[in-house]
Amino acid sequence: MPAVSPVLEHDAIDPSLDLFAEIERLKTQLNAVLLAHYYQDPDIQDVADHIADSLKLAQVAAETDADVIVFAGVHFMAETAKILNPDKLVLMPDAQAGCSLADSCPPRAFAEFRAQHPDHMVISYINCSAAIKAQSDIIVTSSNAEKIVRQVPEEQPIIFAPDRNLGAYLNRVTGRNMLLWNGSCIVHEMFSEKKIVQLKARHPNALVLAHPECEPVVLEHADHIGSTSSIREFARRTPVKELIIATEPGLIHLMQKDSPDKVFIPAPPTNTCACNECPHMKRNTLEKLYLCMRDRAPAIELDEELRQRALLPIRRMLEMSR
Ligand code: 13P
Ligand code: SF4
Repeated sequence: MPAVSPVLEHDAIDPSLDLFAEIERLKTQLNAVLLAHYYQDPDIQDVADHIADSLKLAQVAAETDADVIVFAGVHFMAETAKILNPDKLVLMPDAQAGCSLADSCPPRAFAEFRAQHPDHMVISYINCSAAIKAQSDIIVTSSNAEKIVRQVPEEQPIIFAPDRNLGAYLNRVTGRNMLLWNGSCIVHEMFSEKKIVQLKARHPNALVLAHPECEPVVLEHADHIGSTSSIREFARRTPVKELIIATEPGLIHLMQKDSPDKVFIPAPPTNTCACNECPHMKRNTLEKLYLCMRDRAPAIELDEELRQRALLPIRRMLEMSR
């Protein structure tokens, strides 16, 4: 796991403590902004100042005037906030909250891959480490990837990393032939095409909304493909009442609040347990959130030279997605 300040030994929390009130109190005391990704537990979403997708959270982090950013998400998200805000304290509830997709792209192997294709520009999905961002020309998220790829001249060859499924989807919709790094997300690769087809047979009026990190065979059954915020927006607008959701089910919390009259059916995984939850995102709990604010740790730490190199492609993303 990349650099974070030492995790303190936490004493047991008094169960009579009102954690929601304590977190609000600490927000004021620290002049902190609390950012949460859609995949966080409902309790964390309910206490957050901003609940959003990766792009929006990066944009909020780039613009905040808070002294402290508390990031309830996974490591690459908090790290991106630190890259944008070297002088702010960036806290995360659990330093071990990583990302299988980010882990599927080791920096040294990626450097060798790049060296084999020196004429290629590198576009990387934000779900990667600072060391991969530092080797990239432009960062994208699932919200702006298509728009950004379309801005690159046709004749410019591109390496896309680390998600092969998002890359294949982008190649399909843009007609490009980007060279794909062979990474993937354990959560989105777990959805079962067979079980989705069975669900559609039982709910013939239901639409399937899928994240582009899903495998192509799953995306073939989707009526809408997009980032978490785009899935949420589609669900809010559609008159259809039954929706099958092929992404991490944490997103359903706000979709259900947006549309209490609709039925959201989480797409089933291939195995028998309900493992479509992201084990990394779900490491964060309300207790750990309270403790990280109380103890001001764990905090993201970054080598300054690496941070500066990783900042350039993030800045390009923020400019190109305006
Ligand atoms: P979004 O940017 O669509 O929220 O995706 C984040 C993510 O980690 C998907 O697995
Ligand atoms: Fe990473 Fe997948 Fe979890 Fe998103 S859902 S944070 S890509 S492991």
